[in-house]
Amino acid sequence: MQLQDKVVIVTGAATHIGQAYAVRLAQEGAKVVACDILDCGTTAEMVMEAGGEVLPLITDVTKEEDTLKMARQTVERFGRIDCIVNNAGIFDGLTARPMMDVDMAEWDRVYEVNVKGMFLCCRAVFPYMKEQGGGKIINIGSGIWLQGMPGVPHYVSSKAAVMGLTRTLAKELGQFNINVNTLAPGGTDSGAKIDRGDDAPVSPTRAGRSIPRTETPDDLTGTMVFLASTDSDFITGQMITINGGDALY
Ligand SMILES: NC(=O)c1ccc[n+]([C@@H]2O[C@H](COP(=O)([O-])OP(=O)(O)OC[C@H]3O[C@@H](n4cnc5c(N)ncnc54)[C@H](O)[C@@H]3O)[C@@H](O)[C@H]2O)c1
Repeated sequence: MQLQDKVVIVTGAATHIGQAYAVRLAQEGAKVVACDILDCGTTAEMVMEAGGEVLPLITDVTKEEDTLKMARQTVERFGRIDCIVNNAGIFDGLTARPMMDVDMAEWDRVYEVNVKGMFLCCRAVFPYMKEQGGGKIINIGSGIWLQGMPGVPHYVSSKAAVMGLTRTLAKELGQFNINVNTLAPGGTDSGAKIDRGDDAPVSPTRAGRSIPRTETPDDLTGTMVFLASTDSDFITGQMITINGGDALY
């Protein structure tokens, strides 16, 4: 067990990939705080079945008061915050559209959750990590901005912003022994998906995966554990792309 008694917050933990992170964390001995705008009851049951301790919370990452409460309740229950996995995002249910048809309210919501929400969560845990002498922040990005993908410019550019945020915070927080890295999944068979309507723009070229199989949430959890563990103590400001050799950079 690589994370015995570590206290790890996972946002967006009610479903899909976030749920897989929460369960794997429990398998590695971590105490898990499962946060989502949706109920995390099922995730909590899965964590307990895996032998873990869990605190499920309703948290809207776009509301600062929710993120502060998330951090405070974590410390009240488990005494510290060793790591946060900033996984919450607007992804499932987005519809790929021609650029001129992108809904600007949807654009704002994508940025509010994927970028501002992530920043608010980083700010909420920072004082506790600083006080305890260090911590790990894992921002969930995507490999999609390395290639570009027409149809969801808000989503793609928001994930590029995640990397800018990671590098900026890594530079500021390294002095406090806080590592900030991006874990960037490729297109993952998680149950969530971007809908492609008939008029969705198509990429002119698309390279295939070097490892020609479907990517699953289980492909992601090992790297998440590595970034949460002491094995990655001198790695910060980096992006690890997990895509079976799709986008190469
Ligand atoms: N599935 C993929 O192919 C893929 C690829 C690259 C990156 N990602 C990223 O991985 C993460 C998880 O993806 P997923 O496939 O499980 O998609 P998903 O859309 O099912 O997961 C997002 C989770 O975030 C939660 N969420 C949304 N708004 C929230 C808010 N305001 N506050 C708190 N929680 C909120 C949702 O309820 C959901 O549980 C996302 O950040 C996504 O962008 C996914």
